[in-house]
Amino acid sequence: MSMTTLPDLLDKMWKDYTGMNPQALKIYNLFLERGDRVINDHIALRTFNHPKVNIDVLAQPFLKGGYEYQQDYHFPDKKLYAKHFQHPDEQMPKIFISELKLEEFDEELRSTINSLIEQVPDEAPQQFDFCSNGRPWNVKFETYEKLRAKSEYAAWMAAHGYRPNHFTVFVNALTSFDDIREVNAFIKQNGFKLNDSGGEVKGSKEVYLEQSSTLADDVEVSFSEGKHEVPACYYEFAQRYTTPDGKLYQGFVAKSADKIFESTDKGQR
Ligand code: NI
Repeated sequence: MSMTTLPDLLDKMWKDYTGMNPQALKIYNLFLERGDRVINDHIALRTFNHPKVNIDVLAQPFLKGGYEYQQDYHFPDKKLYAKHFQHPDEQMPKIFISELKLEEFDEELRSTINSLIEQVPDEAPQQFDFCSNGRPWNVKFETYEKLRAKSEYAAWMAAHGYRPNHFTVFVNALTSFDDIREVNAFIKQNGFKLNDSGGEVKGSKEVYLEQSSTLADDVEVSFSEGKHEVPACYYEFAQRYTTPDGKLYQGFVAKSADKIFESTDKGQR
């Protein structure tokens, strides 16, 4: 069955994400049990800046579904570039897509990634739900480990492929919590670990956005040599503040996101 509508795609992304990351579904259900309604602030996708699969390719179904480009971001330390897209319906999650800048890496990493991308059938990235179809290549665990030494992001992409990296709970819409700190305490009380790189709360009221995230759970992934446990996805929380023009800030803060990217690092656990 070919998928052609945005609501179907978002539904597929949520099912794929929660199926692979039981912690996210458990936390989501804990919010519902408190009587809260969970609104997604944004969904994050990852890719490489190769023309076959770059941000603009991944953004296609969202643009067709009414999303519009808003802003871009640079992460020089992590050699990443990102764009965020918004829908006129404010209940729809923002879409945040980042890409690894391959030209900033050595020849070995570039040729490894290019050989993965060569395995992607030419027409596959044009499919409406490509961004949620999983890993379109075979990869060795040995390759994963080598990539990890140079870029955790490249290794995550090699292992998991095209699927949401995280969903994000919009804290402002949770009526049973006063702020993100209360949410964090609740998450920890329930036995989940938060990413504390750069402090549990990234950002501040002064930059109109505060974010926190769980640490990614390990999941079993099939590699050419067999199955290995590697970090999967995390769940994020975002509290937004009103800017001087009276509107709720809708952008992202590069300095905060830089630390959030580390939620899928192996060194974190
Ligand atoms: Ni995020």
